[in-house]
Amino acid sequence: MAKPVALITGASAGIGYELAKVFAENGYDLVVSARREERLRQLAEELSPLCSVDIVVADLGKARGPSTLVEAITKLGKPIEVLVNNAGSAASGPFQSLKRSQVKTLLQLNIRALTELTYELLPDMIARKSGKILNVASVVSFQPVPGLSLYAASKAFVLSLTESLSEDLKGTGVTATALCPGPTRTEMVSDIQNMELAGPFMSDARQVAQEGFRACMNGEVLRVPGLMNQAMVAWTQYQPRWLVRFFSGLAARNSFNSVKMGETKQSMAE
Ligand SMILES: NC(=O)c1ccc[n+]([C@@H]2O[C@H](COP(=O)([O-])OP(=O)(O)OC[C@H]3O[C@@H](n4cnc5c(N)ncnc54)[C@H](OP(=O)(O)O)[C@@H]3O)[C@@H](O)[C@H]2O)c1
Repeated sequence: MAKPVALITGASAGIGYELAKVFAENGYDLVVSARREERLRQLAEELSPLCSVDIVVADLGKARGPSTLVEAITKLGKPIEVLVNNAGSAASGPFQSLKRSQVKTLLQLNIRALTELTYELLPDMIARKSGKILNVASVVSFQPVPGLSLYAASKAFVLSLTESLSEDLKGTGVTATALCPGPTRTEMVSDIQNMELAGPFMSDARQVAQEGFRACMNGEVLRVPGLMNQAMVAWTQYQPRWLVRFFSGLAARNSFNSVKMGETKQSMAE
C-alpha cells in the first residue's frame, strides 16, 4: 500500500529538516521544498533508506513561489496527506529600520505563501475527507514584540488563521494545527540580534519537531513545546495588554541601544 505523503516547506534546515526526518521515521513519503537544492538532495539521500523523497526547489519569498510549488506537486500526482507550512524568516530591528525588501519578503513568505499553499491544497484533502495541516507559528504569536514587530505580527496571523481554520474544517476529516515554538537553536536564531540572551532557554529543533508531529497526528489545534514557553504564553494571556507591551518595549529598547538603527543581521535577500 502506498505511504501517505507529507509536503514540508523549509526542509533544508532547522525545524523543517527535523520535521522531515520525524515524518520519514513515522511512515511517510516526503515532498520537501526550499531554495537550497544541495541541502534538499543531502536530506533525500539521508532519508532514502526510509522513504521516497521528491524535491521541489522554490523561493516562497517571491510572488510566483507558491504556484511553482503547487504546479510541481500537481505534476507529481501524489495526494498530499499532510501539508507542513514551516518555511519562514525573521527580520529584527525597529520596524522603521527594516529594508523595503525585508518587509516584502517576510510578508510574502510568512503570510502569503502559507495562505496560498493551504488554500490550494485544502480542496483535495476535503474531497478525500482526509488530511492534516501543520502551520509553524511561534510563542511570539501571542504578543507584540517590539524589535521583531513584523515577524511577531506575521506569526499572530498564522495562529489566528490556523485556529479559525480548525473550526471551519470541523466534520471534513481535515485538521489544522499551529505549532508555537519558543527560541529554538537553528540558523534563523543565529541571524536575529541579541538572541544569544535566550541561550539557556533555547529548545532543540528535533524535540520541537517531534512535538509538532505528535500534535499534528492527534489533530490538536495548538501546541506550545516546553514548560518554560507554556509558562510565558500563560503569563502573557493573563496580563493587561499594556503591561505586556510595556515590558517587551523596554526589553527591545535596552537590547537595541547597543545596535545602530537600521543594522540588521538577518539573512533575507536584498
Ligand atoms: N528558531 C526559532 O527560534 C523559531 C521559533 C519559533 C518559530 N520558528 C519558526 O520555525 C520555522 C522554521 O524556522 P527555523 O528556525 O528552522 O529557521 P531556519 O533554520 O532558518 O530554516 C528556515 C527554513 O525556511 C526556508 N526558507 C527561508 N526562506 C525561504 C524562501 N524565501 N523560500 C523558501 N524557503 C525558505 C529555508 O530554506 P532555504 O534557505 O534553503 O530556502 C530553511 O529550510 C519558521 O517558520 C520560524 O518562524 C522558529
